[in-house]
Amino acid sequence: MEQEIEKLKKEVLNFDEKDISNLTEIRNRYLGKNGILNKLFLEFKHLSIEDKKKVGAPLNELKTIINEKLNKNQKTNRVPKFKSNIDFTLPGVDEKIGSIHPISHVTNKIIKMFREVGFGLSSGPEIEDDWHNFTALNMPESHPARDMQDTFFVSLQPDMMLRTHTSSVQVRYMESNKPPIRIISPGRVFRNEDISARSHCLFHQIEGLCVDENINFSDLKLIIKYFINNLFGKNTKIRFRPSFFPFTEPSAEVDIFWGLNSETDYRITKGTGWLEIMGCGMVDPKVLKNVNINPEKYSGYAFGMGIERIAMLLYQIDDIRLFYENDKRFLSQFKGLN
Ligand code: PHE
Repeated sequence: MEQEIEKLKKEVLNFDEKDISNLTEIRNRYLGKNGILNKLFLEFKHLSIEDKKKVGAPLNELKTIINEKLNKNQKTNRVPKFKSNIDFTLPGVDEKIGSIHPISHVTNKIIKMFREVGFGLSSGPEIEDDWHNFTALNMPESHPARDMQDTFFVSLQPDMMLRTHTSSVQVRYMESNKPPIRIISPGRVFRNEDISARSHCLFHQIEGLCVDENINFSDLKLIIKYFINNLFGKNTKIRFRPSFFPFTEPSAEVDIFWGLNSETDYRITKGTGWLEIMGCGMVDPKVLKNVNINPEKYSGYAFGMGIERIAMLLYQIDDIRLFYENDKRFLSQFKGLN
């Protein structure tokens, strides 16, 4: 047996490492179930203790040599031989990696800003009832202000509609939460408007609401100023212009100074240099009453802005329809935004 082991050792050591054509065969011959190595170990079992002492070491050595040699071959020399017409030297096809939609991007940015100053997030349904979209917001049936927001009603259910603004979430949140309240709610809203470069029947808003003791208009101004300076730059000029919303009193619209440097500036600011970017005001006491919050004790402010408008300003997009067409050429321009 000793001689046999010696012979096998030589055989294995002489085995040509580069030759992989019969590797499987050789592996089976030495390492297979009925292979040489197993057979030797079986024989080894029946040897006398004397012989075992002699043969043990060389047998283990043979095993190591076989494993090393054949496994080394397996790792280094296993170059698959393809029979194919594919040219592996051609450059590969790029994976197309998507990017975050500009609307989501702006929304996330704004959410982050408000979270940093203590606002939470809230959301509500897109199919809304009359109470939350209008009546509780101080727009009873046949109130002329309802006309400001042309509504898609759900057929067969005259009481249900696609929400025309995210102010409906204010009502829902105040109905189930007590002050202090500080939330923003982003979401889709719908209006029955003709689709053009400047308006669409579907768009996105972010609503803000703060209700607590002693909240006043200067708190509102502070938060709006914080937000605009963060988004558009520190020295952005802003103004509060008196306005009207049935659910806030007093109400205002916020304009930012955009300038009049180019022809586009003239067009989008209608020659004034100023651009309206949101509606806001102090929550009307009637709205607080409608949701069982005592207006003697609590007051609050609310604001609402259109995301498309802001994204169009930030990225110089001059047609709102681009947001909804999912044209890759448009979307791919927003890769790597931060
Ligand atoms: N909901 C109003 C709109 O869509 C905006 C707004 C929100 C105004 C909150 C005042 C307070 O036009």
